[in-house]
Amino acid sequence: MPYSWIDHDLQVLKRAKWLRSVKEIPPHFVNFGSNDYLGLATDVRLKQAAIEAVEKYGTGATGSRLLSGQRDLHAALETKIAQLKGTEAALVFSSGYLANLGVIPALVGKRDLILADAYNHSCLIQGCRLSGALVLTYDHLDCNHLEHLLLSNRSSFQRCLIVTNTVFSMEGDIAPLAEIVQLADRFHCMVMVDEAHATGVFGARGSGVVEVQNITYPLVQAGTLSKAIGSLGGYVAGEARLMQYLQSRTSTWIYTTALSPADTAAALKGIEIISTEPERRYKLWDNVFYLRKLLGNEQRYVSPIFPLLVKDIPTALTLSQLCWEEGIYAPAIRPPTVPTPRIRLSLTAKHSQKDIDRVWQLLHRHLAE
Ligand SMILES: Cc1ncc(COP(=O)(O)O)c(C=O)c1O
Repeated sequence: MPYSWIDHDLQVLKRAKWLRSVKEIPPHFVNFGSNDYLGLATDVRLKQAAIEAVEKYGTGATGSRLLSGQRDLHAALETKIAQLKGTEAALVFSSGYLANLGVIPALVGKRDLILADAYNHSCLIQGCRLSGALVLTYDHLDCNHLEHLLLSNRSSFQRCLIVTNTVFSMEGDIAPLAEIVQLADRFHCMVMVDEAHATGVFGARGSGVVEVQNITYPLVQAGTLSKAIGSLGGYVAGEARLMQYLQSRTSTWIYTTALSPADTAAALKGIEIISTEPERRYKLWDNVFYLRKLLGNEQRYVSPIFPLLVKDIPTALTLSQLCWEEGIYAPAIRPPTVPTPRIRLSLTAKHSQKDIDRVWQLLHRHLAE
């Protein structure tokens, strides 16, 4: 029976409480698991932009960008992303996952070295593996460890790429980019950052952590259109020659259907709103500071992502269920996604302080020290 091993493995996953299943969140629930940081995914202007794009161009892009899929909307979106990021150019992908999966193997190969933060997102990890480069992982946020690995390994390889999230999706903490680019400069390395949870959220322009930390070193900046931007898709931004190169060398861009007209138009509108309505960002950060205060003003909470650690997996699941029964979605995140179980709350500009009070009331007694 060629597939009977699946039953066995399902049992193993069940016993370990690692078995996952999808959950539909009723629309009236207060949702603390959404990446819709600015509330744009339901904004009437994004909906309208998508509808108009469907009416004008149809539903599907019909082919890859290099064949029949290119529309003026794609070029317009790439220009908008580059403006937001302050880069020469950008390239749009069908998802953030595909962007990272494809771009890393286009930048480095088997003669090269990658240094990656231990808590990087899955798509960065997979992209690193796919590249065939030697991947060395440095301890989370630890530039001393990064320097040590560079000192002992850099000279044996041709190209070297340092890869990091800027905001870490499960921890909510932030990469020390200034120190990373100093090391990159000293050791002659490329740096790729993933601003998936930072774009639209950080910086006076909403550009991300690169803007906040005022980084001028040439970077490969990846991200998604599906979180604060409120649509679907991914991007890479950077130098124009890099984009030109990627168009010929990135299989996850070349061999896949172009982003749909509706998603492209919605993302375009989303970025326009991010650039013109900073008050959404202010509201989001008011909420972040409010919850942080309830949590004793702990300095480790520096983004809209709050990992509230609990003592074990059953506690995480019970708390999440308790919230669910009160009409609140507060996801339990557990190994193997993260090393330690937690309730992960992500705040958006749509939450009220009353929403935050409600979840706090339910959770605070059970949080680990
Ligand atoms: C840091 C990070 N990068 C990339 C992605 C993938 O982006 P997308 O959802 O557009 O595939 C995610 C999550 O979705 C993420 O958290």
